[in-house]
Amino acid sequence: MNKQHLNIGLFGFGNVGRGLYELLQNVPEANADIVRVCVRNVARHSAATPALNFTSSMEEVLDDPAVNIVVELIDDAEAAYRIVTGALRRRLPVVTGNKKMLARHLPELIHIQKETGTALLYDASACGSIPVIRNLEEYYDNDLQISVKGILNGSSNFILSKIFNDGMPHAEALRLARELGFLESDPTLDLDGWDSLYKLVILTLHAFGVYVDPEKIFTYGITHMTDADILFAREKGRRFKLIGHAEKTPDGRLILAVMPQLISKNKFIYSCEDEFNGVVIKGLFYGKQFLVGRGAGGHPTSSAVLSDISSIRYNYFYRYKRMQSGELPRFTNDISFRVYVRYNTDEDLDLLQFEEISERYYSEDTRYVIGRVNLRRLHAIRHLLSERKIFIAAYPND
Ligand code: HSE
Repeated sequence: MNKQHLNIGLFGFGNVGRGLYELLQNVPEANADIVRVCVRNVARHSAATPALNFTSSMEEVLDDPAVNIVVELIDDAEAAYRIVTGALRRRLPVVTGNKKMLARHLPELIHIQKETGTALLYDASACGSIPVIRNLEEYYDNDLQISVKGILNGSSNFILSKIFNDGMPHAEALRLARELGFLESDPTLDLDGWDSLYKLVILTLHAFGVYVDPEKIFTYGITHMTDADILFAREKGRRFKLIGHAEKTPDGRLILAVMPQLISKNKFIYSCEDEFNGVVIKGLFYGKQFLVGRGAGGHPTSSAVLSDISSIRYNYFYRYKRMQSGELPRFTNDISFRVYVRYNTDEDLDLLQFEEISERYYSEDTRYVIGRVNLRRLHAIRHLLSERKIFIAAYPND
């Protein structure tokens, strides 16, 4: 495909789709044009951007003989799955940013890529503008990977930064994040950790060669964080960050979780603020490396999409080498670790089945404990934690 002009069949014209259109207008060297765009509301988009050819029919785009690459940037994961599989089966290479769809269907999508010999690239799906998937695939490939963890969601980090640094009320920070185009159309995906979860599943596959069903991973967000928690973090000289964490233990187990963590000043991600994402990759021989960049927003994300589009021209595809690399780590939730828990009633505390409690605080309006819990237990009671508005954060010793 090297010299061929790329004719893009685009699905979705939200923040990222529009961002891609603007980018292409400014980068003629990309040698790519959007020839058709599939959207729900054709009339609205045609009126706003008459230069583009809009349709509401998926087939009209996929069967257009001019289209030689598909870019999928819609919200709806199941519709995205139909578009992506439909394109791959027609042997049209695809670039997608749909993390939920990827996290749910990666094993099958890998299979279809092999069967059809057609590439699916998705660096924009995890950590916006940071080329983290490409690095895990190509650069860290030969090292013994220990962990991949970090801030994988831009909007929750933006909200936490505004609350911690500027004392902004939660609702106002949320409004601003929406205005700037960082949030998903359903913001609970950002705030309750689901968006980070999908990204963690994708990164884990490329870092460790293991696919883990998102349902099996403990996921908890910042929705129930209050002023009392912020005060606690400040007193300890730490900040809450919403962290996605994948780690291989020395005995070959793989631990995954998404949850807030109390981060101390000596950590790289302590200073990763606003809508920036930061990923710390740890390997046996090189130690730690830190990748940082904008994780949300139309232009940063569409720049990752454009980079994948350019790679299609050079016949790049993910090889998923780690999946074939000998003995793979075994996923488990059976691990205990230190947490901070702010709770409301004694029953809340019983629910957590602490293995050990090292600190307890009890006042008229705030109760918290610090102690060790098992991740398997947290996973089992996740919905109850949320129902009871309990706030929980990992509290590492350093
Ligand atoms: N809502 C997502 C975030 C957008 O805030 O990170 C980028 O995936």
